[in-house]
Amino acid sequence: MFFLVIFIFTCAAKTGLSLNLSDSCPSMCKCEPEEIIHCNRAGLRALPGEIAASTVSLNLSNNYLRILTTNTFRNLTFLHSLWLDGNNLTFLSPGTFHALSKLRELHLSRNSRLTYLHANTFRGLLNLISLDLSHCNIFEIHPLLFSHLPSLERLDLASNNMRYVPQAFRNLSSLMRLSLEGNHIEAIGRDSLKDLETLYDLNLRKNRIWIIQNGAFTKLPRLGVLNLGHNFIGDLPNQLFNGLIQLKTMHLEANRITAIDCTFRHLLNLRNLYLNNNQISSISDSAFSYLNKLHFLHLSKNNLSSLPIHLFTELPKLKYVFLSHNPWKCDCKMFWFLQWTATYRGALEGLHCAFLGHHNVTVLRVPHPGDQMECTAPPELVSKDKCGAAGTSTAAGPPAPPNKVFLLVVICHMWYFARR
Ligand SMILES: *[C@@H]1O[C@H](CO)[C@@H](O)[C@H](O)[C@H]1NC(C)=O
Ligand SMILES: *[C@@H]1O[C@H](CO)[C@@H](O)[C@H](O)[C@H]1NC(C)=O
Ligand SMILES: *[C@@H]1O[C@H](CO)[C@@H](O)[C@H](O)[C@H]1NC(C)=O
Ligand SMILES: *[C@@H]1O[C@H](CO)[C@@H](O)[C@H](O)[C@H]1NC(C)=O
Ligand SMILES: *[C@@H]1O[C@H](CO)[C@@H](O)[C@H](O)[C@H]1NC(C)=O
Ligand SMILES: *[C@@H]1O[C@H](CO)[C@@H](O)[C@H](O)[C@H]1NC(C)=O
Ligand SMILES: *[C@@H]1O[C@H](CO)[C@@H](O)[C@H](O)[C@H]1NC(C)=O
Repeated sequence: MFFLVIFIFTCAAKTGLSLNLSDSCPSMCKCEPEEIIHCNRAGLRALPGEIAASTVSLNLSNNYLRILTTNTFRNLTFLHSLWLDGNNLTFLSPGTFHALSKLRELHLSRNSRLTYLHANTFRGLLNLISLDLSHCNIFEIHPLLFSHLPSLERLDLASNNMRYVPQAFRNLSSLMRLSLEGNHIEAIGRDSLKDLETLYDLNLRKNRIWIIQNGAFTKLPRLGVLNLGHNFIGDLPNQLFNGLIQLKTMHLEANRITAIDCTFRHLLNLRNLYLNNNQISSISDSAFSYLNKLHFLHLSKNNLSSLPIHLFTELPKLKYVFLSHNPWKCDCKMFWFLQWTATYRGALEGLHCAFLGHHNVTVLRVPHPGDQMECTAPPELVSKDKCGAAGTSTAAGPPAPPNKVFLLVVICHMWYFARR
């Protein structure tokens, strides 16, 4: 009897609740619990009127909404997250989100008619942390667009139509992640990314960047990840990355880099360096000196035939080195490399020695005169720091007469290595 009472009571409560819900929940939406409203994929052309003012989360993804006015969200002052992605929004009136001072995340991606955003579009969003504007067709951003967003930590502008870095990022004092991936940006100016004191992750992948002014990154003291992969960068001036003292990961893969000089020397915290898929044919001797924390080095798919002596010997933390798809010449210039691999404890992938493939032992017994000159004992580095000097060092140790037995051992090692 007691259980029956409880059962009836529970039933009644549930019925009451569901009645209440259907009262405040728009007919084409689902509301569970009451303050979380799912109207995604509901074929909506306008916002349903009867959305409860207590709503905390409103999902309007994948509908046909075209225009939002200043009245649309006026009563939803408790809203924490708002999903408007995948609609047909063409214009956001200034003040549309004015009442939403509690909003923390706003999703506006995949509105392909959204091309321009007025300066006051985001006014009032004082607590907004995450703003997704990716996959729209934005080509211009008002310089003051984001100046009303003091709490913004994540801003996604990937896959839009921007041809330059807008000035609008300047007052974003909380910004930690910024993505501009997949736009048409060609240049990064000295002041493009100024005063982003808290920025940790900057994604500029898949643009058309070929000019970066010196000093472009100096005012990004917290930057930990810089992605410049898949651009048109050919030149890496030595001062280019000055100031990136906290940088841990640098992506420069799939660019047009032909030479590495001393560009990376100030990146004292660098752990991961991606230089694969370029046309690098020369690396200076001290290119990686001071990179005491370098862990992962990707040099595959370049035009390297040798590496300068001791290039890796001062990298105590090195754990992964990728070297495949380069036209390696395993001549005496690379002897140091063999010595180094004997003590190196990490993973090494893809050094294929081109010159040994079709040789036989008879030929190897008679080194070329040119080889004799180079196959001396590894010269000591004359000066550790060559980055200040013009050009790379040509200093070699005193030309000692080659020891033929020693040479043969070298070549056998290389042959063995190449066959592995
Ligand atoms: C149900 O709706 C009535 C008025 O329509 C309201 O007073 C009551 O608080 C609602 N109950 C719940 C659980 O929301
Ligand atoms: C909103 O709906 C989309 C699909 O239309 C879904 O991907 C997303 O996770 C939903 N958001 C929430 C908070 O449920
Ligand atoms: C907002 O709430 C007021 C009353 O509080 C109501 O008159 C008005 O219609 C509501 N507006 C919207 C857009 O729901
Ligand atoms: C989107 O809006 C435009 C007008 O702004 C209209 O021509 C088009 O048909 C709309 N598309 C959809 C899928 O509603
Ligand atoms: C940046 O913010 C400061 C105060 O935090 C304000 O005085 C200044 O006008 C803002 N600048 C821009 C361009 O919004
Ligand atoms: C590769 O490097 C060699 C010199 O080492 C140079 O002659 C050649 O043009 C380079 N090839 C490409 C595709 O850059
Ligand atoms: C090895 O080299 C010698 C001298 O160059 C040549 O006569 C011989 O045919 C070579 N053998 C093979 C298997 O290539």
